[in-house]
Amino acid sequence: MNQRPIGVFDSGLGGLTAVRQLRRLMPSENIIYFGDTARVPYGNRGRETLLKYARQDLAFLRSFDLKAVVVACGTVSSNCLEELQAESDIPIIGVVEPAVQQAAALSQARRVGLVATRASVDSGAYERAFRQLDPALSVCSLACPLFVPLVEEGRCRPGDTVIETVAEEYLSPLRERGIDTLVLGCTHYPLLADVIGNTMGPGVALVDAGAESARACRDLLTRCDALANRPEGAASYYTSDRAGNFQRLAALFLGGDDAGQVQQIDITGY
Ligand code: DGL
Repeated sequence: MNQRPIGVFDSGLGGLTAVRQLRRLMPSENIIYFGDTARVPYGNRGRETLLKYARQDLAFLRSFDLKAVVVACGTVSSNCLEELQAESDIPIIGVVEPAVQQAAALSQARRVGLVATRASVDSGAYERAFRQLDPALSVCSLACPLFVPLVEEGRCRPGDTVIETVAEEYLSPLRERGIDTLVLGCTHYPLLADVIGNTMGPGVALVDAGAESARACRDLLTRCDALANRPEGAASYYTSDRAGNFQRLAALFLGGDDAGQVQQIDITGY
């Protein structure tokens, strides 16, 4: 048993989709979330900048006495996970490996797709992980940079012609490749699951990378006998920009739950 909290960070609000899954899978855990809303988006930045930001995000979270950290950001997980793991003495769990394992397990056709930010796709991290697991898997990766701002504007539901048009434009080449499994490799994309599912059709299974990282975290803590034991855990939220903005949008990502008290911090001091 280990009562210490789990830390989670993302470039902004998207990582709350992973928090939602962590809370569903492990309701007894305390969670500390940091969303770097002052510097979002990360998805079009270079590796050096990403590493600098990710180190600061992690340093802030490590000011708490944590037992593990989930890097809920697909972009950071794709570009900086190894460095963060090498520099940490607690487990650091990213989204790439768990999502790739689930997608490889699900795909019958052995043809999988990935949608993510440009920096995630350019890193080649998902493709490397797929190749390591099964060199025979065919992988088709696609950057979808317009998805994040549209989700943040709340344009994420079926029937919204803007998001449906963008999804069709992005995803039709993937549909034509005959993939049967698609990794949603960015924290914001689970909110588009219905739109993406409708666009790809019923024969394509969607893998939520954030949800898979939550599962991987649960499995790891279970193996290490490090799960918390209390009736109900709590979540605390920190942000690098206005707390009000975070609060306003959080429920969208948390599946209707209120984030409650949100505290603004100066991330440049870490
Ligand atoms: N959090 C990022 C990711 O999962 C998406 C938003 C951004 O570009 O910062 O890749």
